Amino acid sequence: MKKFFVVGNPIEHSLSPKLHNYWIQSNNLKAVYDKKKLDLLELDNLIKNLREKKIDGINVTIPFKNSIIPFLDKLSNEAQKTQSVNTIYLRDEMVIGHNTDIEGFELAVKHINYEVVGKKVLILGAGGVSPSIIVALKNMGCKKIFISNRTQSKAENLKKTFNEIEVVKWGTMPDFDMIINATSLGLKKDENINLDYSKISAEKFFYDVIYNPPETNFLRFAKKNGNKIENGKKMFIYQAQASFKIWNSLEPQVDDKVMELLN
Ligand code: ATR
Repeated sequence: MKKFFVVGNPIEHSLSPKLHNYWIQSNNLKAVYDKKKLDLLELDNLIKNLREKKIDGINVTIPFKNSIIPFLDKLSNEAQKTQSVNTIYLRDEMVIGHNTDIEGFELAVKHINYEVVGKKVLILGAGGVSPSIIVALKNMGCKKIFISNRTQSKAENLKKTFNEIEVVKWGTMPDFDMIINATSLGLKKDENINLDYSKISAEKFFYDVIYNPPETNFLRFAKKNGNKIENGKKMFIYQAQASFKIWNSLEPQVDDKVMELLN
């Protein structure tokens, strides 16, 4: 019986077990995927268990995507570039950290048929997920990336790694085609990002990394103003698909059932 875990803190909200166990069953695999709430001091032992093959694969979520790195033997290019690990596996006795959030975002945007080539994108937030979105947007041929964060120094820090991005002050709005909420604002139902929607023309694309609730106020106002909107559900599903593929050497299906499973 193979054993997989998603680890984080908090972890109660995670839908990864539901999704992975569905794919495990539909592919007739002998495995189980569980969630584990950990604290920083337990990461060492977690990786030891993977090394000793008591665990077969790990997903990492907030707040450990970066702090897990010192315990690993090797990072994939994607994990290296973003300093963010969400998928861990053992290969040739080495513990490898990889980042499938990049692929998750790219596939999500491709599946909704949005063309990023030549577009100007404003990212709100400079937290854990932002480097993955920057790398994905660059891979997809985006023309310009602006980044804005309440704590500006964190956006400036990202610029040290991604020199081509332009930092804009929190609350100011450059000309963009696509705007991405990569903050945690909206996870609580009544939370608002203070944007002047009247100044944004209707044909923009609003993307929210949050998928629960399915429609944040950010997306609700955008929709009301006639903009195209998308939440983070597909990104979540495709990052999970990429992890599953690494651990089980088969590509699980993303079909209507999977989409409904997470409603
Ligand atoms: P971390 O910042 O520890 O990486 P995260 O959940 O990955 O945590 O990121 C949270 C993001 O949401 C950050 O960009 C954060 O902005 P700050 O860096 O200024 O904290 C943003 N955020 C959270 N609450 C916010 C609020 N009330 N207003 C504006 N931005 C907020």
